[in-house]
Amino acid sequence: MKFNHTDYKKRNITIWNEVAPRYHKRWASVSQGPFASTSKLVQLLDINKGDHVFDLACGTGVVTKKISQKVGKSGFVVGGDTSITAMKIAKKWNDSKSNLDFVNVDAEHFYFSKQFDVITCQYALFFFPNSQKALKNIKKHLKKGGKLGITVHGAAEKVPFFSSIFDAVTKFIPDYVPPGSPDLDRFGTKFSLKNEVRKAGFSQITVKNFVFTFSPGTFENYWRNYLRYVAKPLKEKLDTLDKKERRELMELIRENVKPYTMKNKIIKFPWEVLILTANA
Ligand SMILES: C[S@@+](CC[C@H](N)C(=O)[O-])C[C@H]1O[C@@H](n2cnc3c(N)ncnc32)[C@H](O)[C@@H]1O
Repeated sequence: MKFNHTDYKKRNITIWNEVAPRYHKRWASVSQGPFASTSKLVQLLDINKGDHVFDLACGTGVVTKKISQKVGKSGFVVGGDTSITAMKIAKKWNDSKSNLDFVNVDAEHFYFSKQFDVITCQYALFFFPNSQKALKNIKKHLKKGGKLGITVHGAAEKVPFFSSIFDAVTKFIPDYVPPGSPDLDRFGTKFSLKNEVRKAGFSQITVKNFVFTFSPGTFENYWRNYLRYVAKPLKEKLDTLDKKERRELMELIRENVKPYTMKNKIIKFPWEVLILTANA
């Protein structure tokens, strides 16, 4: 079956509407593991009081919140996302600050009649099937010399929290995600990320890499929590495995996490994150 952008986006909206509350509780609101990136991103962009900022794919508002504190009452922040549920959480979490607003927009199609000083996009560029269109749209909405800040996960082998399970599962269920879906690590190297942003016409591009750590506890904790937090369409695929296949899958994942498992059975994953800054 041919990959269809509209279906992919619809599926993503359904998934994010489902997982947003769990995502917020487990990761975003508590700055767990890779979410130490939020402070780094805001720091690297050097946001000033009075700045007007758009936080694209704001999710539950973790970056939006940090920026609204930076720009103060004389500035303004807009958070935009395709998931209404995520934005509801973002609104609630940010109270009703007067310098903040949320809009339901798609990255490839948003339109504002004004331009911004800064646009941020954390952990989302890889979800946009036409990432060039999204980046060009971002550029159009930045003032001349305005700043872009993008955070992405590193390459699959540098983020074993994801790949230990994903690599194993796809051996048993090749269509675990719809065939043709964009790889979530397609901008996971300095070269690929820089190149994509340069192609959209940005200049003064810098990419820094950070390695954070995340401990999901023991192997049993890691696997149990995965099953607890995974989105419904993926859970349904996992449920097609019979008992024997499920046991084999678990053993394969256990093997994959061995290099990161300490003597006391606790797993400690390294987690590479890339943060790009550029000028319009
Ligand atoms: C991993 S979350 C990141 C959220 C937030 N930036 C953060 O750092 O917590 C990815 C977000 O991208 C949003 N998203 C996915 N595709 C999108 C699109 N085409 N346009 C706008 N938002 C999108 C999802 O709804 C989700 O909230």
